[in-house]
Amino acid sequence: MVTFSTIKEISAYLGQQKATGRSIGFVPTMGALHKGHMALMQRAKNENDLLVVSIFVNPEQFNNADDLKKYPRTLREDSQKLEEIACDVLFAPDTNEMYPEKVTEQYDFGQLDKVMEGVFRPGHFNGVAIVVKKLLDIVRPDRAYFGEKDFQQLAIIKKLVAMEKIPVEIVPCPIVREPDGLAMSSRNRLLNSEDRKIAPFIYKTLKEAKLRRNHICANPLRQMIINIFEGNDHFRLEYFDIVNDETLQPVNAWNNKTGTIACVAVWLGNIRLIDNIRII
Ligand code: PAJ
Repeated sequence: MVTFSTIKEISAYLGQQKATGRSIGFVPTMGALHKGHMALMQRAKNENDLLVVSIFVNPEQFNNADDLKKYPRTLREDSQKLEEIACDVLFAPDTNEMYPEKVTEQYDFGQLDKVMEGVFRPGHFNGVAIVVKKLLDIVRPDRAYFGEKDFQQLAIIKKLVAMEKIPVEIVPCPIVREPDGLAMSSRNRLLNSEDRKIAPFIYKTLKEAKLRRNHICANPLRQMIINIFEGNDHFRLEYFDIVNDETLQPVNAWNNKTGTIACVAVWLGNIRLIDNIRII
């Protein structure tokens, strides 16, 4: 694996690789790599000649300074994991390299960022879009891989690529879970051992929502699941919603032609966790 920390060097290297006709699969990450990330990388490796991974904890997408400070940074361990899966190129720039000047871009995603994460993390998706646009411009991959764990992020990135006419195929990848059902996340390692044991309740409750959807309408189901989360003192619910998988707007009645996802964000102790499940 070759590691680069400057845009100039990685651009030159990938330019040469592309000139020989090799296809590039790209997985952008913020590091603290786990099996969810690794699944994206394995898929990118299988479908392309070259696997490029980026690790950059993007300050622009953190609306909370404490969250940014707490975010796990484990570059040495991460590099080792990437060597083990024979990653070809790691791009690990620092903040000055990515943002030599103050960033000012403002994207308009219509209604997509006005719901769920967008309500509770103002500016978050604009920051994600800024960094993903920049990374795609640097790496110029044939395909870029994103997890459905961050379902709203995936929708925003598809829209970004369409709006900016970026020539890349966005490949969605399924959520990878721990054996007890907890969606893998870099933030899981910040949970204390007691909270870690409680955390699978999130997926258990999402599965309950999926099971019940044959027996109850969308609005009462939404309220029932909200009540279940609010009835558990270990969690502080930010939102639970049942939404159209393209528009991300609330679904009020079942319709087998409309892809439907149930999405949740909760605080467990001082750690914020998100998850989702396909309902239809
Ligand atoms: P990060 O949270 O490191 O995630 C990198 C990629 O891994 C994202 O596409 C995310 O959806 C995917 N991922 C994380 N956990 C997963 C899981 N359990 N199963 C499947 N995929 C999973 O998402 C980001 O970084 C950043 O916002 C980024 C896109 C890199 C921009 O800074």
